[in-house]
Amino acid sequence: MQDLAGRVAVVTGAASGIGRALSVILAELEMKVILADVEALALEEVTQGLIEAGHTALAVPTDVASADSVAALAERTYESWGAAHVVCNNAGVFAAGLSFDAPQSDYDWCFGVNVFGILNGLRSFVPRMLASGEPGHIVNTASMAALTSVPFSAPYAMSKAAVLSLSESLYLEMQSKGAPIGVSVICPELFDTRIGWAERNRPPHLERKDGEGASIEREGTEQAIRTATGTGEAPSVLAQRIVDGIRENRLYVLAPEGDPWREACNVRLDDLRHARNPGGAVPGE
Ligand SMILES: NC(=O)c1ccc[n+]([C@@H]2O[C@H](COP(=O)([O-])OP(=O)(O)OC[C@H]3O[C@@H](n4cnc5c(N)ncnc54)[C@H](O)[C@@H]3O)[C@@H](O)[C@H]2O)c1
Repeated sequence: MQDLAGRVAVVTGAASGIGRALSVILAELEMKVILADVEALALEEVTQGLIEAGHTALAVPTDVASADSVAALAERTYESWGAAHVVCNNAGVFAAGLSFDAPQSDYDWCFGVNVFGILNGLRSFVPRMLASGEPGHIVNTASMAALTSVPFSAPYAMSKAAVLSLSESLYLEMQSKGAPIGVSVICPELFDTRIGWAERNRPPHLERKDGEGASIEREGTEQAIRTATGTGEAPSVLAQRIVDGIRENRLYVLAPEGDPWREACNVRLDDLRHARNPGGAVPGE
């Protein structure tokens, strides 16, 4: 999809990090942007900043894990601006831990937001986008963790692998229908965001009970994520890469060649090709 100006974008997880940077760049490209996030105050602040800079933006507090909430987001989008052209299913959370020991609530939370949050977005927007016949693009945020062999964060890594698979299905379905709707699955390496503090958005009914799943591996991974993302690039770099992916209709938007995460992905692909056991393919392991 080439012509973005004047068209409508929806971004979930827009109050922080990658979603925020994406909202800014899409607004600067003269798109009308609907910003959605569960953190209502931060969302309002980002949206006001865009409006004050002369852009067209609207905040819609949304919990992507709730089908009703995402359906309401779509209603509001179509009521307000009559269309959705670029839908960025970007909201995401992170939980670490040993796969066999992490509580069910870690899996329910990560899958609820990272996977079913995206599915809610697809169910609410894709049928209307198809019916409109207008060009469109779906952007789903996964992670390089979906493409590498990652220990100590199964709730997250599993959810991102599911996002990759879901996006491939959607891409092929759009192709088979001859629909003018592109799909990109974003697999970022490390960017300087608040993903290491994702617990701030964990709903009370999915809180971990005392000591549940606590391990030295979980603690170390949580600390490593905070440190590593803190040294990552600015999310605006990724936002530009995502816009390029939309314009070039690229399904796989990956860490660039030469990046350690891309190398780790290549090692993993070779492992698969040769049916070889993985051996610490994650950068820094
Ligand atoms: N930062 C990285 O290095 C990195 C790497 C790979 C993938 N990602 C992915 O990028 C996406 C954006 O994360 P980020 O790094 O900008 O983190 P972030 O924490 O800065 O932003 C995530 C946003 O999602 C929102 N959110 C969380 N739960 C939500 C819910 N239920 N409904 C609506 N919004 C919700 C948060 O409030 C927050 O504003 C995520 O999907 C994440 O997994 C990030």
